[in-house]
Amino acid sequence: MTRKVTVLGSLNADTIMHIERLPKQGETMAMYDATTAPGGKGANQAIAAARMEAKTTFVGAIGDDQNGQMLLDAMIHDNVDITNIKKRDNIGTGSAFIMLEKDGSNTILIHGGANQSLSIEDVKSATDAIINCDILVAQFETPLAVTLKAFEIAKQNGVFTILNPAPAKTNIQPELLHLTDLIVPNETEAETISGIPVTDEASMVANALKFRQLGVPNLIITVGARGAYYSTVNGAGFVPAFKVKAIDTTAAGDTFIGTLASQLELDLSNIVDAVRFSNRASSITVQGAGALPSIPKLTQVKAAFGE
Ligand code: RIB
Ligand code: NA
Repeated sequence: MTRKVTVLGSLNADTIMHIERLPKQGETMAMYDATTAPGGKGANQAIAAARMEAKTTFVGAIGDDQNGQMLLDAMIHDNVDITNIKKRDNIGTGSAFIMLEKDGSNTILIHGGANQSLSIEDVKSATDAIINCDILVAQFETPLAVTLKAFEIAKQNGVFTILNPAPAKTNIQPELLHLTDLIVPNETEAETISGIPVTDEASMVANALKFRQLGVPNLIITVGARGAYYSTVNGAGFVPAFKVKAIDTTAAGDTFIGTLASQLELDLSNIVDAVRFSNRASSITVQGAGALPSIPKLTQVKAAFGE
C-alpha cells in the first residue's frame, strides 16, 4: 500500500546569496553569485516525501505571482496534489533570503507573505486531505493556530502527526505538543522548547524525557553532520550520518523529515532503518545546490546504499 502523506506548511521562493563569509554590521560586500530556487520548509518536505514515492498532498498558500507559479509548477512536476494550495490576490508568495557560505552552511531570513495568511478556514476546507492520509506533517513557517486546528482534526481521525518545530519558536501552545505523535527538532529547536541544550547523548536523553513530560511520546533530534538521536516508546539510540562533502546544506533537515514520513511504520517498529534511510537522503541533498532541486529521488537513495 502506498504511504499517504499530507504536508501543511510554507512555500517560498529562495534567493540564494553565494558569499565568502557573513558580512559584518555596516559592511558592504560583494557576492560571487546569486541564484533563485523553489523552497520553503513545507514545500521541501512535501517534495522529499513525493520523491520517495509517497502519495503527497499539500495544504498551504501562495500569492498570485510568478514565484507562486514557480512553486505550483514544482509541486505538479513531482506529483504533489495541489488542490489545497490557496492562491491569494492581495499578498505575495513567501520568500527566503539565504546567505550560503563556502563551506555549505547557511543563514536564512524569511518573509512569510502568503504563508502567514493560511487560516483555520483553509484547514477546514482541507479536512479531506487531513483525514485521508497516514501522516500529517507541519513546521513553524505557517501560523501555529492553524497547525493546531489541523492536528486536532488529524488526531480525532487517528492520523499520525509529525511536528518539525522549525524555525525555532517560543510560546508554542501546550495543546499542540499534546497532539504531536513525533517531534523532529534540530539542536537549537529542541533547546528552545525543552530548555535543555543538546550536546552529548545524556543531554538528548534528558530532552526526550522533557518532551515526554510536555506530552510528546516520540522524539528525533537531528544533529547535522553527526546524525540523529531517536527516542520512542520502544527504545532509543543514535544513528550516525553518512560522511559527505557538503556544498549546500539548505533543505537537508527537510529532506530528512519528508523521507522519514514516507518510510516510517506507524508503530515505529522500523525507526532505526527509517532514520538511516533519511540520513542517507539528506546526505545527498547537502551535495546539491538549492532547496528543491537538491532533494533526491527514491532510486538515488537506494543506489547510494548500493541497492
Ligand atoms: O529549510 C530550508 C528552507 O528554509 C529554505 O528552502 C527556505 O525557504 C527556508 O524556509
Ligand atoms: Na542542498
